Amino acid sequence: MNYFIQILLIILALILIKILLIALFFRQDIRAAQKRDPAAKSFIEVLLLYQGLHVLVAYRAAHFLYNMHMFFLARYISQLARFATGIEIHPGAKIGKRFFIDHGMGIVIGETAIIGDDVLLYQGVTLGGTGIEKGKRHPTIGNNVVIGAGAKVLGNITVGDNSYIGSNAVVIKDVPLNSTIVGVPGRITKQDGRKIDVSLDHMQVFDPIIQTIEELQKRIENLEKK
Ligand SMILES: CC(C)(COP(=O)(O)OP(=O)(O)OC[C@H]1O[C@@H](n2cnc3c(N)ncnc32)[C@H](O)[C@@H]1OP(=O)(O)O)[C@@H](O)C(=O)NCCC(=O)NCCS
Repeated sequence: MNYFIQILLIILALILIKILLIALFFRQDIRAAQKRDPAAKSFIEVLLLYQGLHVLVAYRAAHFLYNMHMFFLARYISQLARFATGIEIHPGAKIGKRFFIDHGMGIVIGETAIIGDDVLLYQGVTLGGTGIEKGKRHPTIGNNVVIGAGAKVLGNITVGDNSYIGSNAVVIKDVPLNSTIVGVPGRITKQDGRKIDVSLDHMQVFDPIIQTIEELQKRIENLEKK
């Protein structure tokens, strides 16, 4: 019995040390989560309960092993983390500082994705390939970018610094700096704080549905005139 209690105490001490090390080495990421999630009440809450932080800890270990060419072990850790959190980050992806995943479930980040500093992803985001590219086939996300719930950013494209991808957008082309993108396929609705009226600014229209509606509207107006 005494022996059993000693083993239990050692296990508890190891868990405590692990938690303290994570608190020490990931304090910037924890503070970023506190800053960006109004629901985060304390440092300890983020440390113990946030899946986004737990998957990041696993990713940092897996990425280290990936860089050491220990690909199988790296992938094994990332798959375990995926099982535990529902978030899949390929160990080959490159992720900057103060990265925060809010809610998290259903996120996929591909092998050649590059993510800058201070990036926030919500649940259901995919940073994926289009399925036809080889080599660098996943997006490069700039600094201070927010990607809304369910958005898909596909292919070897670049999302400029300080941009905001709206929820459920599908982005398949480069996004300039300081832009807000919404819709499928993604279109710019705001740039440098200025609202872009898609019906006036045809340079910004990538959306074939909007173009078709505009053409139909013109035909109806012509018919009404006749
Ligand atoms: C895109 C977003 C950032 C709003 O940005 P904004 O610059 O404040 O945009 P506005 O609210 O002024 O809307 C601009 C236009 O885009 C439309 N729009 C906004 N969000 C949209 C979205 N996700 N999909 C499609 N259209 C959207 C608006 O209806 C508006 O259209 P209009 O100009 O024809 O009226 C926000 O709507 C969003 O999607 N945030 C994601 C947040 C999220 O994922 N939260 C998850 C929490 S769990």
